Amino acid sequence: MLQGKNIVLGVSGGIAVYKVVELLRLLTKGGANVHVIMTKNAQEFVTPLTFQALSGNPVHTDLFSLYQEQEIGHISLADRADLFILAPATANLIGKVAHGLADDLLTTSVMATKAPVLIVPAMNSNMYENPIYQKNQKFLHDNGYHIMEPVTGSLACGWEGQGKLPAPEAIFAAAVSVLTPKDLLGCRILVTAGPTREEIDPVRYISNYSSGKMGFAIAAAAQQRGAQVTLVAGPTNLTVPVGVRCLPIFSAAEMSSQVFGHLEESDVVIKAAAVADYRPVSRAPQKVKKSAEQLTLDLEKNTDILYSLGQKKGNKVLVGFAAESERLMAHAADKLQKKNLDLIVANDITREGAGFDVDTNIVRFLHSDGRVEELELMSKVQVAQQLLSHVRVLWKAKK
Ligand code: CTP
Repeated sequence: MLQGKNIVLGVSGGIAVYKVVELLRLLTKGGANVHVIMTKNAQEFVTPLTFQALSGNPVHTDLFSLYQEQEIGHISLADRADLFILAPATANLIGKVAHGLADDLLTTSVMATKAPVLIVPAMNSNMYENPIYQKNQKFLHDNGYHIMEPVTGSLACGWEGQGKLPAPEAIFAAAVSVLTPKDLLGCRILVTAGPTREEIDPVRYISNYSSGKMGFAIAAAAQQRGAQVTLVAGPTNLTVPVGVRCLPIFSAAEMSSQVFGHLEESDVVIKAAAVADYRPVSRAPQKVKKSAEQLTLDLEKNTDILYSLGQKKGNKVLVGFAAESERLMAHAADKLQKKNLDLIVANDITREGAGFDVDTNIVRFLHSDGRVEELELMSKVQVAQQLLSHVRVLWKAKK
């Protein structure tokens, strides 16, 4: 995702420094080459050695260090960077950057860079609300700096309020977003994800193994590429991607009503959810007791949401999924045609690395014009990116 990207991580002195250690780990795991610059105060919280060990690069601390200048130099760092991240960014650091002050290695490098700068403030809530601070933040925002809002919660200083550093995963997603070209700007995408649950009684339901990973990956990638994303999601353990509107649902009927309720405002619908085909004819109001030797459940068919969408799709782009355990191509082609889709993503769930609850998938894209594209084993995030590139072409053609 960040393969080959040079990221400069500027760390200033705040209690949240410890969370940035985890951010560094995520960045390097994502393929980025990270150079850390620490201010003098930051080193009071975590030693440079920690950042050095995790980044695999020397940590830069001193503007006037002959050794560090020779090694890479602040201007060279500023030049080579694809992205600067300032996290945690203290009120002091933000004030200095806003006023063009360059009195240490970090502020000098930020001033010298032409790369995008992502600022992640963390401070006491009163400091955050201070009009002088807010003026500095607004000035930077108006001048093209990317600013993440701090999170509300209990702060290290004992206060309750807005000022906490967002979770490392959220900062990572924001960094990817800043580096991602916005080729889906103006596109409104509705994604469904996860399983549905059809209730039998107050303690039991019928469902399936869907983890929601594929649909959430599509939602996150689409948002990063500039789309306005609505995610209709069944129960999962996943975190809603930053910037995505999530509408949680349980049953297929609830999914259907949310999908059709938001259809008008969508240009593209991607149905990655594993919808239960049947639901109990009636839900028992009380827990069903164990008495008879055999129990028969009466089930009735749920609406096929995708089929109904296909009936009224107009100039919307419609993408379906087909997870099959046999005759993959025949079943997928049949669904593509019957449901009036533009594209179907087919995968054979019996293959290792494909299907439910894994981070990878092996898929084929079947287009309505007969084209078939076979992808190798790749992460669900990569599948999402490839799918969205096709969606973009289809959306542009229908606009
Ligand atoms: N789908 C849907 N509503 C349903 C069932 C399925 O919208 N009630 C959508 C799924 O989200 C998916 C596509 O239809 O995009 C194919 O789903 P799948 O379960 O593979 O196929 P079905 O049409 O349900 O057929 P079968 O279960 O017989 O394979």
